[in-house]
Amino acid sequence: METEFKHIPIMLSEVTSGLNIRPDGIYLDCTIGGGGHSSEILNHLTTGKLIGIDKDQDAIEACKKRFAGKDNVILYKGDFKQIDLILNELNINSLDGVLLDLGVSSHQIDTALRGFSFRFDAPLDMRMDRSQNFSALDVVNKYSFSRLMRVISEYGEEPYARSIAFNIIKNRPVTTTKQLASIIENSMPKKVVFSRRGAHKKTFQAIRIEVNGELDRLFESILYLITKLNKGGRMAVLTFHSLEDRIVKNAFKLCATECICPPGTPICVCGHKKSIKLINKKPIIASKDEQKQNPRSTSAKLRIIEKI
Ligand SMILES: C[S@@+](CC[C@H](N)C(=O)[O-])C[C@H]1O[C@@H](n2cnc3c(N)ncnc32)[C@H](O)[C@@H]1O
Repeated sequence: METEFKHIPIMLSEVTSGLNIRPDGIYLDCTIGGGGHSSEILNHLTTGKLIGIDKDQDAIEACKKRFAGKDNVILYKGDFKQIDLILNELNINSLDGVLLDLGVSSHQIDTALRGFSFRFDAPLDMRMDRSQNFSALDVVNKYSFSRLMRVISEYGEEPYARSIAFNIIKNRPVTTTKQLASIIENSMPKKVVFSRRGAHKKTFQAIRIEVNGELDRLFESILYLITKLNKGGRMAVLTFHSLEDRIVKNAFKLCATECICPPGTPICVCGHKKSIKLINKKPIIASKDEQKQNPRSTSAKLRIIEKI
């Protein structure tokens, strides 16, 4: 059974004020989810327009209901990694603001049948876009030992990646979330299972990142989106994983740098021009209150830039 779309938008006021919204601007929410942030952006628009993208059809359906009757909202089911094609198709040439709230929605995690969570017993799946052929079943049952270990170790930062990958392979086929969770538990010392809040979290996160290609072309997409921003336009990016945040930080750093010639080059030969300024040098994190009320905000980092 499908659940109602529930997701609490993270750092809502920080995101909205960070975007410095123009009432007549064109805003792009690349990861609209349940439309929490978008709804607040819309509250600031008069003649402006909002484009909302998500690769999850559930999110698009939820937003169709939420924004029914609003003629300044365009919803598009797609992947923001193909934003060049999407903006072309929508005939949008420039933007006044862009939001990326990366990662997974509470709706996806909390819907048992989506197979994202070890809290429910369900077939392994974890696809944000259910029209995609590749799912968690493929990662868990088809990857070689070294590839599986690398995914779990890199994306999950899991110190027990080696023994988890080994035991997954030994127990193939692994088809359900509970089966995977119990393999993970049995791959680490009992005291670690008890001391960690959610022994399985890191491995589930790693497999989810791999299934959805969450880090692929993120850097290039950010660079492209910056080229589409009007002068004074802003981009806000919320990340939930250190690798994701590093990609965002590096993309912003590159665009905020005037020349990228190797140190010591007598005159600039790269021709690279600074195109943005950083609004916050250090990432903004959720307030203690928000972290208490919504534990999913604990790992969130917000970075904001302005086009110059
Ligand atoms: C954290 S939720 C967004 C929540 C939203 N800001 C809100 O307030 O309801 C992330 C959403 O981004 C979507 N998503 C993740 N990667 C995507 C991509 N590459 N292209 C399009 N949507 C993506 C997911 O399907 C999910 O619905």
